[in-house]
Amino acid sequence: MRSGPGAFAVYSARSVEFLNTMKVRTSAKPLSTNPNLLKWVAKIAALTKPAAIHWVDGSQEENDALCAQMVEAGTFIKLNEKLWPGCYYARSDANDVARVEDRTFICSLSKDNAGPTNNWVDPFQMRKKLKGLFAGCMAGRTMYVLPFSMGPLGSPISQLGVEITDSPYVVVNMRIMARIGLPVFKEIDKDEKRVVPCVHSVGAPLAPGAKDVSWPCNKEKYIVHFPETREIWSYGSGYGGNALLGKKCFALRIASNMARDEGWMAEHMLILGVEDPKGEKTYVAAAFPSACGKTNFAMLIPPAPLRDKGWKIWTVGDDIAWIKPDASGRLHAINPEAGFFGVAPGTSDKTNPNAMVSLAKNSIFTNVALTPEGGVWWEGMTDKPPAECIDWQGNKWTPAIAKETGAKAAHPNSRFTAPASQCPTIDPDWEKPEGVPISAIIFGGRRATTMPLVYQAFNWSAGVYTGATMGSEMTAAAAGTVGKVRRDPFAMLPFCGYHMGDYFRHWIMMQKTLSETPRIFHVNWFRKDAAGKFIWPGFGDNMRVLKWIVDRARGRALGKETPIGWQPRFDDIDWTGCDFSREQFDALQVVDRTAWRAEVMGHEELFLDLHDHLPKEMIYERELLICRL
Ligand code: OXD
Ligand code: MN
Repeated sequence: MRSGPGAFAVYSARSVEFLNTMKVRTSAKPLSTNPNLLKWVAKIAALTKPAAIHWVDGSQEENDALCAQMVEAGTFIKLNEKLWPGCYYARSDANDVARVEDRTFICSLSKDNAGPTNNWVDPFQMRKKLKGLFAGCMAGRTMYVLPFSMGPLGSPISQLGVEITDSPYVVVNMRIMARIGLPVFKEIDKDEKRVVPCVHSVGAPLAPGAKDVSWPCNKEKYIVHFPETREIWSYGSGYGGNALLGKKCFALRIASNMARDEGWMAEHMLILGVEDPKGEKTYVAAAFPSACGKTNFAMLIPPAPLRDKGWKIWTVGDDIAWIKPDASGRLHAINPEAGFFGVAPGTSDKTNPNAMVSLAKNSIFTNVALTPEGGVWWEGMTDKPPAECIDWQGNKWTPAIAKETGAKAAHPNSRFTAPASQCPTIDPDWEKPEGVPISAIIFGGRRATTMPLVYQAFNWSAGVYTGATMGSEMTAAAAGTVGKVRRDPFAMLPFCGYHMGDYFRHWIMMQKTLSETPRIFHVNWFRKDAAGKFIWPGFGDNMRVLKWIVDRARGRALGKETPIGWQPRFDDIDWTGCDFSREQFDALQVVDRTAWRAEVMGHEELFLDLHDHLPKEMIYERELLICRL
């Protein structure tokens, strides 16, 4: 869809007249002249019946006014300005705390295109359902028209969207997570730019005179994607990826469809730059499933001896990468986001000092704990918890209560929304329109056994096999399945907007368009010894592995051939300032053939589900692996 004829589907002129009859706020005057956008907004207003329309200009004044309005409504608490300048605190409804994968739908015309890893409903039926849900759903509320750009404005890799939402919380979060407001309207008005229409409602209409709640939402939730028309409709939730539609819905599920059709890649990957002692930078993109330390890795601080030698990490993004070949056939990546929507628990000055600086001001905290001095706290933020605080559900919390009841001060999925520009290691080129050149791709997971610390795939198709078969052990949260490996191909299981087998094929095909093929690696920071203790120290020491990866990508490091790929020998790693022994390293790197037989059987389980769309390269790679083992 383009913002020229047809971009927002076809709507009647009568609905534009309807716009003029509405009770309106100061910013009710349309800030766009694009006739298709105007018609679409009018059509959605006619369906959802808001009390007012607010065209979002993205200014600081507007943001301040929305925050003040939310403080008034009880949605926001302003944090202590001295301790947390420009920061706000929100508590969600206890039933609206995370992405809802079982309520997420890919409504492609054919069920076969959604594949077995997605929920599918016939798009005609779903549209009927949505029409019913959205009818009058914004009554008593303001409808915000929020234009946004995923990626720097004007970048050939960026994409535009407009989110219509009845949540001011969404507007102020999107202002951190994306580029929004007047410059985006200007871009939309220009001409033939494609715009992705996104409609979001918390699904809680207000009757005249009714008192609002601090976190309106609906227990019925629908997160719906129409891949062919590039549309997103989200109902019932105000939280995270359910509501900030630029993120998972657009930048991964819809964008993966665009990318397949247009020859690029929309990936659940961080992007970082490794600066070597000569001052040369090598960029890598890395995919890890949730709870594997992606944000920490993106902001890694090398150990002091490596820092002293001149090694430094630069952050481009912590969650999503859009990767495209340039005119010469070299892959370049942008971070389509402008902020970090990070999991708070576990984030500390020890685990990720750069994240702590990023979130120290102008940030929004959701479902963490509130301290008596008007600050925030979460498990893992400090060694010593506060003597007392208010937990994420508004109850008094003390360490003694926690000991007795097990209550968490912060919800495990509590979040900070922080501007990426505030990250001390943000790469000077992070907003470069052409992106940064990608030399290596890393896959990883949380594996107590089998997977060595690091290996390099033999070539691109072996690397695609590595990404396709990656997995992570499930945590204690899922009773009875501790240690069971959940396959999460490319960390895209909840985010691939089409058939996973076709997605593997797209990866295979991409290499044919490239003049230079990035090297592909697999890492595992989480291998345990017989006593169940992590063998690898992780965090800053991951730099030692990253250094070998970058040196390999630049053709300046050795390795040894093993059945699964190239592995560093002990002497190929820079151990300065670390007394990790040769024996420990060998234990970390061992390729246990018996364990790998079981591993390959696990790959087969995934392949059976995808068999009718599985590229033949995956079968051949599996056979080769079995032969080598
Ligand atoms: C995220 C996720 O929030 O992957 O980034 O769930
Ligand atoms: Mn993510």
